[in-house]
Amino acid sequence: MADLRINLAGIESPNPFWLASAPPTNSGYQVQRAFEAGWGGAVWKTLGDPILNVTSRFAAINFNGKRVAGFNNIELITDRPLDVNLKEIYETKKKFPHHAVIASLMVEPQQKKWHEIVKRVEDSGVDGLELNFGCPHGMAERGMGSASGQVPSLVERQTYWVKEVAKTPVIVKLTPNITDITATAEAAANGGADAISMINTINSLMGVDLDTWNPIPHVAGKGAHGGYCGPAVKPIALNMVAECARHPLINVPISGIGGISTWQDAVEFMLMGATGVQVCTAAMHHGFRIVEDMLDGLNNYLDNMGIASISGIIGKAVPKYSDWGDLDLNYNIAARINPDVCINCNKCYIACEDTSHQCIERLTDSTGKSFLKVRQEDCVGCNLCSIVCPVDGAIDMIELPRELQPMTWNDRQAVLHAAACKVDITK
Ligand SMILES: Cc1cc2nc3c(=O)[nH]c(=O)nc-3n(C[C@H](O)[C@H](O)[C@H](O)COP(=O)(O)O)c2cc1C
Repeated sequence: MADLRINLAGIESPNPFWLASAPPTNSGYQVQRAFEAGWGGAVWKTLGDPILNVTSRFAAINFNGKRVAGFNNIELITDRPLDVNLKEIYETKKKFPHHAVIASLMVEPQQKKWHEIVKRVEDSGVDGLELNFGCPHGMAERGMGSASGQVPSLVERQTYWVKEVAKTPVIVKLTPNITDITATAEAAANGGADAISMINTINSLMGVDLDTWNPIPHVAGKGAHGGYCGPAVKPIALNMVAECARHPLINVPISGIGGISTWQDAVEFMLMGATGVQVCTAAMHHGFRIVEDMLDGLNNYLDNMGIASISGIIGKAVPKYSDWGDLDLNYNIAARINPDVCINCNKCYIACEDTSHQCIERLTDSTGKSFLKVRQEDCVGCNLCSIVCPVDGAIDMIELPRELQPMTWNDRQAVLHAAACKVDITK
């Protein structure tokens, strides 16, 4: 069995699966049950000045028969008194000394407020702190959460204030509601963050009721933007993790969050640079026991790959993630339809004919049976036909023999630039 232990900026955990700060980590009762189920760590539901919540709070997108493809909430930080939370954190840590308990914090952007809460919370025995600069609703209107997290100077300054007094590692949780997350990630690192985590939720409006015209969810007929999460946000989160992981000035570990539901999702995040992962929506949808499959799956994967510990996968795919300008313009693939598997549904034909490059032909064989064939010389290798094909194995994307040496856009520009310089010199 592989060694699943992780060490994220000094925070040790028996495995990389943590519950994210959210309803599953609202109380000692829940976090302790989660640890019993197998979770390696938990980021406590954000502590701060307890607030009032509204009802209703959640909504979900069900897509094509899959429930909770995306999830949205207008919930705020904890509505339980700080003393109660701290007592339960202390008890939880005493019962589970080897599990990671991280306190998520959010206060107004004032040095004194950050100093006060950090000192009080650290006395409860937490292993680390996570600064919530991410929640996009409710608290943001009061200058906290994503309102802070969208301004790099505020991220840097507040991180710095926390680091002035913190004795435990400080993770800065970033908002995805920003054009370039590396700007705030870098600010966090400059402020002294020991690690960063991402993503918090994405601004969203889930829908509008066609009969009542109420936003979904609504509170007495009125709605407000909420935070989007769950499987639908995974590609956005994965890109943000990867962009930070490959950024030369962001040299702190990353805790990956956003749409993680399976061990495969977790491995993808770790390959793209996350030291560990956090999960919220999947636990809310299926319960704490999903971690059993995650642990089994991760163990089997590492064993099958001959990898002895988690460190053997962290960041290993990052060198493969680059700028568009570094991609090989002379690499060629094309679609090939497997006639033995194809069910002649025509989905690929329609997709290619109407919306791509018109390179699939409908032909008839000697027995009068119709079949589909790709004109490879016209195929641009876009993948669309294989994406819309409902049958696994009916369309393969195959690599064509290379006709030209690798050449990226950046190489091409360099050649052109050199040529232009040469012309200039001879003039
Ligand atoms: C109902 C709900 C409440 C949340 N509350 C918090 C919170 O108090 N603090 C925080 O940092 N993130 C909070 N989050 C965000 C999650 O921690 C997480 O970043 C986000 O849901 C993405 O992960 P997921 O796709 O696994 O759900 C909340 C999310 C949900 C769905």
